[in-house]
Amino acid sequence: MSAQIENLPQYRAMCVADLAAVLAIEDVIYTHPWTRGNFADSITSGSHCWIMELGGELTGYAVTMTGAGETHLLNLSIALSWQRCGLGRELLRFVTARARELKSTKIFLEVRVSNIGARKLYLGAGFREIGLRRGYYPSHHGREDARVLELLL
Ligand SMILES: CC(C)(COP(=O)(O)OP(=O)(O)OC[C@H]1O[C@@H](n2cnc3c(N)ncnc32)[C@H](O)[C@@H]1OP(=O)(O)O)[C@@H](O)C(=O)NCCC(=O)NCCS
Repeated sequence: MSAQIENLPQYRAMCVADLAAVLAIEDVIYTHPWTRGNFADSITSGSHCWIMELGGELTGYAVTMTGAGETHLLNLSIALSWQRCGLGRELLRFVTARARELKSTKIFLEVRVSNIGARKLYLGAGFREIGLRRGYYPSHHGREDARVLELLL
């Protein structure tokens, strides 16, 4: 059971000035983190890049790309010290609401097969596993498969 979040998170668009703080989180929580260039390109290319804050502290972020009625969830991350408090579920709820506003009919994403926690988060939010992309991710042992998940809106 998650701990309760006492204050509601605040959301705003990510900007280049956030990238040092974002990368400080990213480098800790992923074995193969996004680079500064990946985030900078997302900001400038029209992806939706969101910052989640609690009491002014950057606790999480998400990146989505919407087109042709579908939203691709590219990055969903919670700072290590804030994990397992319900914030991932809350950030996913926020991203889902934004996708609905953009008239997306579905959200889809890839997740490492080994990422059991994230898969549980998504399945708990109503996503279903619809496919497998073999060797989609780099890993320390060659490549790792991705599960493809979809949420119909
Ligand atoms: C995956 C991630 C976003 C989850 O965020 P979080 O704030 O820790 O998750 P929540 O506290 O909102 O958990 C919601 C549910 O997800 C599942 N879950 C999340 N983390 C889990 C873990 N480590 N182990 C098992 N289940 C987990 C649980 O079902 C949980 O519900 P519960 O606490 O009532 O059991 C976060 O752990 C993270 O940023 N991880 C590193 C980056 C990453 O893997 N991102 C996803 C890439 S696809």
